[in-house]
Amino acid sequence: MQHECKITVLETKCFEDYQVEYLADPKSGPCPFFKPGDVFVLKRTPMQDDFYHLMDGRFCGEAWDAVSRYVYTALQGGSIMKGWTNDDRMMITCCNDGTRPVDYMVLVNKQNKLPDSWEAALDLVEEKSLLYEDPVEVERKAYDAYQGLKEDLAQEGVYVELDSCYRSVAHQQEVMDEFTREKGADYAKKYVAVPGFSEHHTGLALDLFLVIDGEYVAENDQMMEHPEVWEKVHAKLADHGFILRYLDGKDDITGYAYEPWHIRYVGDSKVAHQIMDEGITLEEYLGVADEAKAANAKAKAEEEADAADTSYAVDYATSEVYTTDDIDAAIDVVMSTFDEWTGCTMKRIAYTDDNTCAENLEYANSLREDSQPEFDQAMVLTSDFHTPSEEEAEDTAWEPNTDYEGYTWTLGRTDGGEWKLLTWGYA
Ligand code: DAL
Ligand code: ZN
Repeated sequence: MQHECKITVLETKCFEDYQVEYLADPKSGPCPFFKPGDVFVLKRTPMQDDFYHLMDGRFCGEAWDAVSRYVYTALQGGSIMKGWTNDDRMMITCCNDGTRPVDYMVLVNKQNKLPDSWEAALDLVEEKSLLYEDPVEVERKAYDAYQGLKEDLAQEGVYVELDSCYRSVAHQQEVMDEFTREKGADYAKKYVAVPGFSEHHTGLALDLFLVIDGEYVAENDQMMEHPEVWEKVHAKLADHGFILRYLDGKDDITGYAYEPWHIRYVGDSKVAHQIMDEGITLEEYLGVADEAKAANAKAKAEEEADAADTSYAVDYATSEVYTTDDIDAAIDVVMSTFDEWTGCTMKRIAYTDDNTCAENLEYANSLREDSQPEFDQAMVLTSDFHTPSEEEAEDTAWEPNTDYEGYTWTLGRTDGGEWKLLTWGYA
């Protein structure tokens, strides 16, 4: 977890009588640098640590003296003194100019998301991709550093190439969709960042692939089979300003599984060496590991609680007519309606049996609107669910806090079409 810090200029004061009495220019007037409402957002990264220069030279020495200790405290996620302000994340200070002081508010924003301005300012270099139609894009300094790394490795007989580097938010969504489709949602969660929160948006994260005996080794599972090659790659990273970002056994801090291929340019080989030689994560280096851990643990607990909430038993019975996929597809349609029943919890949902198929089909077609094509298949599912208490759902038509059992759902579909939920209730 990193922190952003927002500085807002609250007020610019001017003590005219002091100016007349003490200044060489008695008509100096208020501070020429700031006006009330000016906002500066600062974020510490290994690439950028010298905030004084970030504000287009607008922070004079007095102003920086006034805000700097608050800024550095904020960027660690702290506050100068607990219980001083009415929001511990917010601090208030004022510059030391005796005749025209300026009041500033410094606020910590806890977030990982890239500042909106980041992408527009990116200087990307393109290289023809060996794997995809679109070129690979990398931030310019990171690209130059990568060339050095690649050459250095080649001298040792280790060959790396670029897979995926800079990704727009839309591209990250495609990656997420592809992994979810091909490897499942659990895998995608461990290996792919939510769009908008990926380090790949920075252009500083490079996914490498290996070339072994002239063959491309680019699939995640295949790449994992070559730890001895990755060891050699990792040993050279820091010399070129790169670190390994998602370390083995540190997913509680990074939030992601081990990725030997994902390297991150930190701009400075001294910083990179400190990180790599100590075997720490970027979060640990930045002093935000505890918060990252807590946030990851909280997100995981919430996910598990959600999963527990939605877990219900499925009884597929035995069917010669429908596969479990057919039944799952029908259950999905039922659940999209059931999920709207505030506070109700599904306990069990079951396929009935094949004997009633003809009867169900006749019933389904009797419910069909005339304009619709005839159904070729029908299914009746039965379910047991529990209703919420009166406090949980005030306006419910259900008997509160009650188990409803054997509640049925009738669905129909045309051959090859989607299930349509036709009716539900007690038969
Ligand atoms: N593979 C890393 C976590 C990403 O998608 O940004
Ligand atoms: Zn990556």
